[in-house]
Amino acid sequence: MLSQKTIEAILELQKSYPEKRSALIPALHLAQNEVGFLPPGVQAQIAEAFDIDQTEVHAIVTFYDMFYDKPVGKHVIHVCKNLSCMLRGCDRLLTSLCSKLQIKPGETTADGQFTIIASECLAACDRAPMMLVDDAVVGPVQEADLDQILVEAKKGPGHPSPVTLEGGSHG
Ligand code: FES
Repeated sequence: MLSQKTIEAILELQKSYPEKRSALIPALHLAQNEVGFLPPGVQAQIAEAFDIDQTEVHAIVTFYDMFYDKPVGKHVIHVCKNLSCMLRGCDRLLTSLCSKLQIKPGETTADGQFTIIASECLAACDRAPMMLVDDAVVGPVQEADLDQILVEAKKGPGHPSPVTLEGGSHG
């Protein structure tokens, strides 16, 4: 559940917008930054803070790949599956990555280190086939690069939130 501090920050954030509803996405980032993901109880707290139905919050959480409604690993790897990346071999890349980590897209490794998410276009088509490794765009990726990408990812602090209580910004 969200701390009072985060709820207060969300209420404060709402004041920055003409309509408080516009603060919903950054508020979800704040919540996810605290809890690590957005379970139904947290979605209910957000809905209450915005005076909206919880189904609206749920719709947003499940629409955007950047929000997680179940726990994810320390490192999140989004593999783009959209057209440009598909034409340049992302399917093979995803299969190979899944096989290395012994998980399927949407799953987390048993040691909690990695989650793989098959994503829609991540707006870096010029780097196709590409992946978002925590907050870093990586690409074009060759299958032979995967081991090193995993080694480098493990050295990092893990998937960040673009909105934090400290006002920090990643990426
Ligand atoms: S299609 Fe992969 S980044 Fe756009």
